[in-house]
Amino acid sequence: MIATEFRTKNEKETLQLGEKVGELLRPGDVVALYGDMGYGKTVFVKGLAKGLGVKDIITSPTYTLVHEHQGRCKMYHFDMFNIDSYEALYTTGFFDLCQSDAVTVIEWSQNIRQFLPDGALEVRFDMSKAGERIICIPEDKRFADIRC
Ligand SMILES: Nc1ncnc2c1ncn2[C@@H]1O[C@H](COP(=O)(O)OP(=O)(O)O)[C@@H](O)[C@H]1O
Ligand SMILES: [Mg+2]
Repeated sequence: MIATEFRTKNEKETLQLGEKVGELLRPGDVVALYGDMGYGKTVFVKGLAKGLGVKDIITSPTYTLVHEHQGRCKMYHFDMFNIDSYEALYTTGFFDLCQSDAVTVIEWSQNIRQFLPDGALEVRFDMSKAGERIICIPEDKRFADIRC
């Protein structure tokens, strides 16, 4: 997937980038986040949720596996850090939820890569030596006007 690279210097910039993406999402979108611990995935989801009109406080679903929120559409927030098999994934309800009219956002997508639906929007997180977060967003027409 061809991607546009953004660099964020702090949490606020990542929140703002997430919010801009969230504003452009549509019901049924699946957003697959890739990247290691501490790279800013949950911060990005907080922004994304705001862009979707979610008012809840967003916390990491590392142990609960999935959180449901309501904005201008439903948003399911998964964290696949502890998912290591098809059975474990199946019991989260993932396969039904990601085919619904909700927006589904998935942290640690690298753990379930082979089970992601076609058309999932892949967002990749990396870190520069200086600690900036390098965030790559698909080069989709929808996201073409995003600046950071
Ligand atoms: N540019 C940045 N973007 C996002 N988070 C940053 C940035 N710089 C520093 N941080 C810090 O890094 C941490 C990222 O945490 P989090 O979003 O929970 O990571 P992840 O979900 O990828 O494990 C937060 O403590 C945040 O304050
Ligand atoms: Mg996280």
